[in-house]
Amino acid sequence: MKKLLALTVAVITAFSLVACGGNNAGNSAAGGSNGKVSLKILDTEYAVEDYAVCVAKENTALLESINKALEELTADGTAQAIVDKYISDKQHDLVFQADAEGKEEIHMATNAQFPPYEFYDGEKIVGIDAEMASAIADKLDKKLVIDDMEFDAIITSVQTGKSDFGMAGMTVTEERLANISFSSSYATGIQSVIVPENSEITSVDDLYAEGKNYLVGTQKGTTGDIYAEDDFGADRVMKYASGNEAVQALITGKVDCVIIDNEPAKAYVAANNK
Ligand code: ARG
Repeated sequence: MKKLLALTVAVITAFSLVACGGNNAGNSAAGGSNGKVSLKILDTEYAVEDYAVCVAKENTALLESINKALEELTADGTAQAIVDKYISDKQHDLVFQADAEGKEEIHMATNAQFPPYEFYDGEKIVGIDAEMASAIADKLDKKLVIDDMEFDAIITSVQTGKSDFGMAGMTVTEERLANISFSSSYATGIQSVIVPENSEITSVDDLYAEGKNYLVGTQKGTTGDIYAEDDFGADRVMKYASGNEAVQALITGKVDCVIIDNEPAKAYVAANNK
């Protein structure tokens, strides 16, 4: 467990995780009798974090209006309804961005490979962040435009003003705060570890075992990636463009575990094991 940062009030509690896979990429993962690799999430946590919206440092007016919007959306239950729709499958009948056409645009930078926060449903980017951003844009009387990019491009896009804000299940860290501002937190994230069902890794502590040198798969530039590199060294961390690619590497035995936020971990494991 490391680098836990609780800067702001967590107004909503959702979860995320970090996962790890592989037996020195040796391939303990190579399937059961039907050749399919079943995955599971370790029940010990690797890190607990806060998610927030990021905004360019000089853009204090926008930061204030986002904080105000988040506060209102939390107070009137909208934020919880959005989380419940994606995490507990409880539909709501709220409508966002109904008459946004023609309004001034507000651009959100994200990496839409992170269910249930942001992912594609057909051509459309949906998820907790996408919907929360729509609700925020309504309050700001703007038309939301989502700019999809690599996760590690988001901060630069916001810093340089190409995007107005970033929302991507993004964890508040001190290092990031040196470059951008964060809103109040709207969710809690947990970094979790995914392993094959039959893995000899049974707890986060096992990852530190002397002489084992387990290989960890991560999504490049994420906190799971950064912490894993700090803890295990660059040689043991395999970085992928998306969490899904890291999970594919776990299934094919290239890594021994994947460290990723808890809710995406649940989504990936469920999709794999079904
Ligand atoms: N919470 C982690 C971080 O901030 C991972 C976020 C990844 N988000 C995404 N949309 N791919 O580093």
